[in-house]
Amino acid sequence: MEKIVVVGGGGHARMVISTLRKNVHRFNIVGFTDIKEDAEAFLGIPCLGNDDVLAEIATRSLNYLALLGIGIVRQADIDKRVALQKRLNALGFLSATVVSPLAIVNEEVFIGAGTVVFDGAVINCGSTVGKCAIINSGAIVEHDCRIGEHVHIAPGVTLCGSVEIGDKSCIGAGSTVVQNVSIAPGCMVGAGSLVLGNIKESGTYVGSPVRRIQ
Ligand SMILES: CC(C)(COP(=O)(O)OP(=O)(O)OC[C@H]1O[C@@H](n2cnc3c(N)ncnc32)[C@H](O)[C@@H]1OP(=O)(O)O)[C@@H](O)C(=O)NCCC(=O)NCCS
Repeated sequence: MEKIVVVGGGGHARMVISTLRKNVHRFNIVGFTDIKEDAEAFLGIPCLGNDDVLAEIATRSLNYLALLGIGIVRQADIDKRVALQKRLNALGFLSATVVSPLAIVNEEVFIGAGTVVFDGAVINCGSTVGKCAIINSGAIVEHDCRIGEHVHIAPGVTLCGSVEIGDKSCIGAGSTVVQNVSIAPGCMVGAGSLVLGNIKESGTYVGSPVRRIQ
């Protein structure tokens, strides 16, 4: 079994732990980190301390995996995840691709290291998902989509066929992006939005159809 540490102790981290546990016999979850050093254990998985403990854990073995357990609701969360992942790489942690057995991943799909796919998500033929992304519960990624690194596809999103999502973008819960649309890197698309055309500049977009608000 692969030893893995979850970095973060909030709601998203609990979802990550729960998804790791569903991959029976693959992972030995050593624990999670939290700002609160003595956070309560979750399902018997202990809090190891705050992120400062990672340096010590990294010295224990060359083969430890680490997975980000911090969710994304705003751009600052993405920046935080990018910085943390850099730190994990520098410490020598390896990344895991973690897919819930309750997700459907079709043929000819590539999913990058450090990405997690939650229950009920569907990723269809020919799609690729970059490193350290989150494909959240019940999201549908139709055929031939290109999803960048550090992207969050929030719960219940529908990406129609051949959609491109640039690095470090977040598509908010329940949104729909129609076929062949490209969304630039660094975009926040608000919950419940409809994207009918390309978004060429980073920014925050909301509504149906979307308009730029920031
Ligand atoms: C888009 C988003 C990031 C904007 O957050 P923000 O920068 O804090 O923006 P504010 O809340 O200040 O809202 C700014 C304006 O946009 C509107 N707005 C914000 N989000 C909106 C949305 N999803 N749909 C429509 N309008 C929205 C607000 O009503 C407000 O309008 P006003 O200026 O007329 O009052 C956020 O609202 C959002 O939708 N986040 C995604 C949440 C999500 O999917 N979470 C999944 C977690 S797993």
